[in-house]
Amino acid sequence: MRFSSIDLMRFAYGRYALGAFNVSNLEQMHGLFRGAAAARAPIIVQFTRVMRQYAHPAMLEQLLRGAETIYPGVAFAVHLDHGDEEACADATKSGHFGSVMIDASAHPFEQNVQKTARVVGLAHAQGIKVEAELGQLQGIEDEEEATSNTALLTDPVQARLFVDRTGCDSLAVAIGTSHGAYKFSGDHGLRLDRLEAIQREVPGFPLVLHGASGVPPEEIRRINEAGGRIAEEASGVRASEVEAAIRLGITKVNIGTDGRLIWTRVHREFFRDHPAEFNFMGPGETYMREYALFVERKCVQLGGGNRAEEAAQFACGPV
Ligand code: 13P
Repeated sequence: MRFSSIDLMRFAYGRYALGAFNVSNLEQMHGLFRGAAAARAPIIVQFTRVMRQYAHPAMLEQLLRGAETIYPGVAFAVHLDHGDEEACADATKSGHFGSVMIDASAHPFEQNVQKTARVVGLAHAQGIKVEAELGQLQGIEDEEEATSNTALLTDPVQARLFVDRTGCDSLAVAIGTSHGAYKFSGDHGLRLDRLEAIQREVPGFPLVLHGASGVPPEEIRRINEAGGRIAEEASGVRASEVEAAIRLGITKVNIGTDGRLIWTRVHREFFRDHPAEFNFMGPGETYMREYALFVERKCVQLGGGNRAEEAAQFACGPV
């Protein structure tokens, strides 16, 4: 059943986080819903603007309707990840989304406020909630790249002004993560001190952690053993840090890279071990199973296991 992501996040605040999984194909959709059903956890399904261009919005919506029919017990929300004003307007019109993200974080503060406020006006008129971003992550999300020169942590006082002036419903904060498989060097990790300062300025306001994939070293090792060339410095966010971040107001945790790494490992190993094979269903079955297991474990790790029913009761009802 579909809910608004913000309702699910308000219920989770301070106790657990919703896994927000970036998916774009049939195998991922099956894996995601199977994993959520096994964990009995509420989830957020999210599509980026680029994924919508790749798969077609109508195809993604039909996949979701299929998943809704096949896995009726799963409480989920549908969210547009990293939209610009145009993509947010399009997603708002489509009737498929309970929430959209306007990512104007690459613009100066004042422009970010203006752009976000415009999207909030448009979306709220349709009953759709809005995630915005302040501060900048490094790395690549789809084809959009922020360089280390432009990467900036969120300023706590600006965060409060931003939330007040835009009327956004949740805020993605930059606290040291980046998109992709190369997040940290050395011992670096999340800037929990900065997150704490942000929470002090906007207590009770739902915060979002982008770039939250764990990038397990075991996946990297297996991909490389099967012919891949992912650099050894690949690294992700530690589970213990995510747990600490949840206590500091993070209620939505975005995960895309981990799903792509599992896809790469499964397919590389399959075709290495079955060089004469050309049927996509073999690796497809394995991927669905492996991705489901990943989603199940991740939801439990985020504290969302066995929360689907109470979250659904709290949320204002299906959207
Ligand atoms: P990862 O690259 O860490 O999976 O982050 C995904 C993300 O933040 C999508 O918005």
